[in-house]
Amino acid sequence: MIQSLQDSVELANGTKIPGFGLGVFQVANQDASEAVKEAITTGYRLIDTAQIYGNEEGTGEGIKKGLKAASLERKDLFVTSKVWNNHLSYEDTIQALNESLEKLGLDYLDLYLIHWPGKDAFRTSYKALEDLYRQGKIKAIGVSNFQKHHLEELLNFATIKPVLNQIELHPKLIQKELRAFCKERDIRIQAWSPLMQGQILSDPVLENIAQTHQRSVAQIVLRWDIQQDILVVSKSAKPERIKSNAQLFDFELTQEELSQITALNENLRVGPDPDQFDFV
Ligand SMILES: NC(=O)c1ccc[n+]([C@@H]2O[C@H](COP(=O)([O-])OP(=O)(O)OC[C@H]3O[C@@H](n4cnc5c(N)ncnc54)[C@H](OP(=O)(O)O)[C@@H]3O)[C@@H](O)[C@H]2O)c1
Repeated sequence: MIQSLQDSVELANGTKIPGFGLGVFQVANQDASEAVKEAITTGYRLIDTAQIYGNEEGTGEGIKKGLKAASLERKDLFVTSKVWNNHLSYEDTIQALNESLEKLGLDYLDLYLIHWPGKDAFRTSYKALEDLYRQGKIKAIGVSNFQKHHLEELLNFATIKPVLNQIELHPKLIQKELRAFCKERDIRIQAWSPLMQGQILSDPVLENIAQTHQRSVAQIVLRWDIQQDILVVSKSAKPERIKSNAQLFDFELTQEELSQITALNENLRVGPDPDQFDFV
C-alpha cells in the first residue's frame, strides 16, 4: 500500500507509477494550467490527460510551471495521455502521440493508453504503441476500458504486454472479476471516476464513515482505493479540493468500514459500457 502522494508501485515492465494522481477530464484548456500547477506544488506526481480532453496545451503549461515552482525535474513526474477512438489506425496513433507530445511540450510520455477498445481497431493502434515504446517515446504501454475479452484478444498478439488497464471503478462498480483477471496477468488496474464524478458523495453509508473519521466523503472513497492497492486518478479543478483530496495518508479505514464500502456495489456505471459505447 502506498504511504504518500509521492509513493510509487512498480509496473510489470519495471516503470514506477505513483499510486495517486490528478485527472483533468472536463477541465477547460485555460483552467488546466492552474489545476496542474496546484497539484504538483501540493505534491501530486501523476497527471492524467487525453487527446480528447482538449487540454493538453494547458496541462503542459501547468506541468512546466509546477515543476519549476516545486524545483522538480521532468523525471520526477509521471504523465499519461490516451489516443482517441477515431485515431486507432497505425499511422493515426503515431500522429496522435506526436501531437500530444507537442501540445504537452514533452519529449516522452510515461504511459500511453488506448482510450477505448473500439470494435477491433485496437489491434492496429496497439502495434503503433509497441513501436513507440521501442523508440522510447512512451515508457509504458497500457489500455483503458478493456473488458476481459478485449484483453484476452490483445494478449494473443501483443509482443509487449500492456502493464495497466484504466477502468471505471468506485464503490458502486467494484469490478471484482476484471480486477482478478488483470491481477493474475500482472496488469495493474487504475480507477477512473473514483468519486463517480461527484455522484457518490452524498451516499449515507459513506457520510457516516466520513463523520466517524472527521474526513470528507471524497477522502473516504479515495482511501478505500489506496487500502486495496488500487491505483487511482481523481479530478478536481478547485485548489482547495486538489489539496484536501490528497490528504489520505494520516488515517486508516477499518476492515469493517472497507467491507461496508465494498458492499455498496451495484455494478452501476457513470460512464459508457465499453461493450456498448458508440466508438467515434
Ligand atoms: N479512461 C477513461 O475512459 C476515463 C474516463 C473518465 C475519467 N478518466 C480519468 O479519471 C479522472 C477522474 O475521473 P472523473 O474526472 O471522471 O471523476 P471523479 O474524479 O470521480 O470526480 C470528479 C468530480 O467530483 C468533483 N469533486 C472532486 N473532489 C471533490 C470533493 N472533495 N468534494 C466534492 N466534489 C468533488 C469534481 O468537481 P470540481 O472539479 O468542481 O472539484 C468533479 O465534478 C479524470 O479526470 C480522467 O483523468 C478516464
